[in-house]
Amino acid sequence: MLNHPIIVFSGTGNPGLANAVCRYLNQEIGQAEITRFPDGEKLIRLESDVRGRDVFLIQPTCGPVDENLVELLIFLDCIRRASAARITAVVPYFGYARQDRKDAGRVPITAKLMANIITSAGADRVLAVDLHAKQLQGFFDIPLDHLTAEPVLVKYLKQKKLKNLTVVAPDAGNMKTASRYATALGAELAIINKRRMSGQEILCEEIIGTVEGRNIVMVDDMISTAGTITGAARLVKDRGAGRIIAGATHGVFSPPAFERLPAAPIDEIFVTDTVPLNPAAAAIKNLKVLSVAGLIGEAMRRIHSNESISMMFRQIPQG
Ligand code: R5P
Repeated sequence: MLNHPIIVFSGTGNPGLANAVCRYLNQEIGQAEITRFPDGEKLIRLESDVRGRDVFLIQPTCGPVDENLVELLIFLDCIRRASAARITAVVPYFGYARQDRKDAGRVPITAKLMANIITSAGADRVLAVDLHAKQLQGFFDIPLDHLTAEPVLVKYLKQKKLKNLTVVAPDAGNMKTASRYATALGAELAIINKRRMSGQEILCEEIIGTVEGRNIVMVDDMISTAGTITGAARLVKDRGAGRIIAGATHGVFSPPAFERLPAAPIDEIFVTDTVPLNPAAAAIKNLKVLSVAGLIGEAMRRIHSNESISMMFRQIPQG
């Protein structure tokens, strides 16, 4: 691919992140006009030439999810029809990922549908960050490079030099991740048994491990309604935990997160910039946003020059 010059485009999903990635790559963002027909349908026209080029399109499918998704698809089609040599869909946050199996009768597997339509629209490869489940990679029949924000988050947490630390997995699905953080931070591990009662209601029932008198770190893939993280924080606080620092790769922040988080016994919350911050997040006073632009930019550079991506994560144990 070295023979094909790189060009990077951004949809409207997260232009701040796209600009930061381009600064890392020392690249201008490719020019495209995104307008609407009078009835609201989107029209995209490329102003930069992509013929024979190695094209990267940065567009997370965060909220408004359907809007950003359709824009991603139209953009991919547009680039393909303009004769790009290769198209990488950079989807830092992959929406609809949680609907990844038939956990009841007569429901869709929307995550698989997303993989199908992104591929049919023209993506030759995909670059994603902290998918809800690693096995979503298998939903794509094209190469998918799966990055994790762990190096960025672990570095940040290490700088805090937290003593007497326990990493708590806020649910069983998070156990392997929590265990990696515990190893990286030299901390103990505890696990919460969580039950989801509805899309918004979470019941955190029991803890396996010791939290009394310990400082706590909790890391999830996303904070959406914040039911998981605030329920877990309340439970460990009730059991005598000290300082609580909680975060996630994707700060999705959907209602009622903006009421739940300020009211929870959490001393600090951290997320990355895979999703642009909802302006209502200003209500969360103790919120820190860490950038994954360098991580994504470095992965794009490596994809372009056919270098290993896994070497970027060689410090992180697999699993
Ligand atoms: C669940 O399986 C995920 O890892 C997250 O814990 C969950 O999606 C967070 O959602 P909420 O913030 O709405 O509890």
